[in-house]
Amino acid sequence: MRIDVFSIFPEYLAALDLSLIGKARQDGLLALSVHNLRDFTTDRHRTVDDTPYGGGAGMVMKPEPWAQALESVHGGARPVLIVPSPAGAVFTQAMAHDLAREEHLVFACGRYEGIDERVLEWAEGSFDVRPLSLGDYVLNGGEVAVLAMVEAVARLLPGVVGNPESLVEESHSDGLLEYPVYTKPSAWRDLAVPEILLSGNHARIARYRRDEQLRRTARRRPDLLARLDAGSLDAADLAV
Ligand code: ADE
Repeated sequence: MRIDVFSIFPEYLAALDLSLIGKARQDGLLALSVHNLRDFTTDRHRTVDDTPYGGGAGMVMKPEPWAQALESVHGGARPVLIVPSPAGAVFTQAMAHDLAREEHLVFACGRYEGIDERVLEWAEGSFDVRPLSLGDYVLNGGEVAVLAMVEAVARLLPGVVGNPESLVEESHSDGLLEYPVYTKPSAWRDLAVPEILLSGNHARIARYRRDEQLRRTARRRPDLLARLDAGSLDAADLAV
């Protein structure tokens, strides 16, 4: 997979050199380039923003540097252009799976009050444009959202996570939150690991974990339970 990220703070993205994503880059599983948007300006001050038409607080990112920047990475196919924004659709694990199947992702990090809307309209001509939000809160710019989205997508690429089984039983893989996990020692500060996990009875352990997923999801994220496809619940699930 190829990923291009544009930002006026490319240093923000340095964390993508680390850990599993850094290793995936070294191993050639992911070709990730971070570009400084100011390199696509033509004036002495390398200006990327200006005052908003219609008035109001803050500044808006100018269209010209964005067009130059996006044209510089546009190849033959239609890349997906992700524009992180609190005004986007909320990014989900299902979207991460869809994006992991793409060949080329481009991320445009807005700052200030955002990017001139015409950039998104113009980009529709050659990109599949997706404004995406991390959640219902406001960050200072798209960089932190890109760190989160790139990590969520890249870990789904074949070979990035050592044991692909660990991608199966995790939160959101089946619409539910993950079950609680424990390790040694079995007794710690008056707190015991649930007895059933020490029993060696794999069927009972699987049922216990599924029950815990359902209970935890009902308690913490009732919205997820409400969205669950009724066909995915068995009789034992309904008894929880
Ligand atoms: N930029 C600012 N806030 C954001 C959010 N919540 N998600 C994605 N990008 C953002």
